[in-house]
Amino acid sequence: MKILVIGSGGREHALTWKLRESPNMDEIYCAPGNPGMAQEGECLPVDVTQPQAILEVAQQIKADLTVIGPEAPLVAGVVDEFERAGLWVVGPTKAAARLEASKIFAKQFMQRHAIPTARFVVAESFEAAVKALASFGVPVVIKADGLAAGKGVVVAKTREEAEKALEDFMRRKTLASAGEQVVIEECLLGEEMSFIVLTDGHGVLPLVPTQDHKAVFDNDQGPNTGGMGAYSDDAILDEHTREAVLRGIVVPTLAGMAVEGNPFRGFLYVGLMMTAQGPKVLEYNVRLGDPEAQPILMRLRSDLVDLFKGIRDDRLSGMEAHWSPSPSVCVVLTSQGYPGRPEIGKVITGYEAAEAQGGVKVFHAGTVFHDPQLLTAGGRVLGVTATGADLPSAIERAYTAVGKIHFEGMHYRRDIGAKGLRRLARPPERNSLPSRRVPGQPKL
Ligand code: AMP
Ligand code: GLY
Repeated sequence: MKILVIGSGGREHALTWKLRESPNMDEIYCAPGNPGMAQEGECLPVDVTQPQAILEVAQQIKADLTVIGPEAPLVAGVVDEFERAGLWVVGPTKAAARLEASKIFAKQFMQRHAIPTARFVVAESFEAAVKALASFGVPVVIKADGLAAGKGVVVAKTREEAEKALEDFMRRKTLASAGEQVVIEECLLGEEMSFIVLTDGHGVLPLVPTQDHKAVFDNDQGPNTGGMGAYSDDAILDEHTREAVLRGIVVPTLAGMAVEGNPFRGFLYVGLMMTAQGPKVLEYNVRLGDPEAQPILMRLRSDLVDLFKGIRDDRLSGMEAHWSPSPSVCVVLTSQGYPGRPEIGKVITGYEAAEAQGGVKVFHAGTVFHDPQLLTAGGRVLGVTATGADLPSAIERAYTAVGKIHFEGMHYRRDIGAKGLRRLARPPERNSLPSRRVPGQPKL
C-alpha cells in the first residue's frame, strides 16, 4: 500500500513514523514533510491550504491511503475533494470540521445537544462584546471565532485585559477575519485533559489519555502556545471518568453531528476541563493534537492502517487498539521568541546523540536541513519523546535526551509530566481527576 501523510509538524512526523511500521505499508510519502519525515519516507512539496493541490499529489503518486495531519486542509475541504475523486482519506469533511473552524458553531452545537461546556455569549461587534462582558466576572475567556493557530484564546484576569483582547481581535483585526466575531465565556477551573478518539461516525475507539502543557513557561505561566509538551499515562483517567466522558460528551457529539447531517469521521479531539462539576468541553479539534500525537503514537502497538480501515469500512465499533502500558513523555524544544515571532536559522546539534538513547524518538517540527547542518525553522522545533517503565523514568529519559540537544535560544519547559507525578503522589482515593458521579453508582 502507498501511504501519503499531509503536514510538516511533530504530529505528522509521529504519524509517518508509526505508519512506516505497518505491515500494510509498501511505500510512504509526506507532503510537504520536514527533515525528520524525510528519514522515514519521500517528501513532496505541496501547499497544505490547497485541497486541489493535495489531491494532485495523491493522484500523482497513486496513494492508496492519505492521512491529513493539520486542521487547515480539513477546514478547507480536502476530504470532500478526495471523496469526490473516490480516493481513501482519513479526516472529517469540511462541514464536520466546523467543530474546530468556528468556535461559535462549536458552542452553539454543544448548546443544541446539551453537551457540558462553559456558559457563553456570542458577540458580533466590539460594542456588543464590551456590553456582554458585564455579565461575566473575572477571569473571563475571550475566543476569536475562527482558526488562529493557538493565538485566538485569551484567558483575561482583569476586565482591562478582556477589553484589550476584544480591541485587538475586533478593532485592530490582529487575527484578520478570524477575530471579527468572538465567544465570551466563563472561565472554568480544574485540570485540562486531551481526550482523543478515532471514529467512523458512530463507532468510537478512544486513544490513551494525554495532558498537554499549553503555557510557555513552567507552572503554566505565560501566554498559551500550540503546546510545549505532553505526556500519556493511563492514570490520567480512571475507568469511571472515561465512561462519563464517552457517554456524556463523545457519544452525544457524534450523534448530534450525524443528526445534523454532518457525520464526523477521523480523529476527534475533545479538549476537556475536569471541573468540580464534572468534565466540560473547552474545545473540539478535528485532528490529532500536537504534541499529544507524539506520546500517544509512541504507546500504540496496533497497526494504525488497520484502525483506519475500520473507519473506512464502518466497523470501528468492533475494534480494539493495543497499547503499551508504559507512560510516555514529549518535551517540545522551542525557538527564542515563541509563541511570538521565533528567531530561526540556528544550528541544531546533539539530536542524533539524543535519539541514540534507547526508548527515545526525536520528532521534527520547525527544522530545515542545509547540508550538512540541521537548522531551526519555526517556533516549535523538536519534540523529544520517551517512554519508560513508569512516569518518573519516562520523564527522566526525555530530559536526559533533551540535555544532549542544543541550539541558540533553545527554550523548553522543565515540568512536563509534573502534574502526573503529583497525581501519583496523592492518596489513591484522590488519584484521578474529579468526575461527576452517576447517581446510584458506587464511589470508585
Ligand atoms: P481552546 O482553543 O478553546 O482550547 O483554548 C485554548 C486554551 O485556553 C485551553 O486549552 C485552555 O487552557 C484555555 N481555555 C479555553 N477556554 C477556557 C475556559 N472556558 N476556561 C478556562 N480556560 C480556558
Ligand atoms: N496541543 C493542542 C492542539 O493540538 O490543539
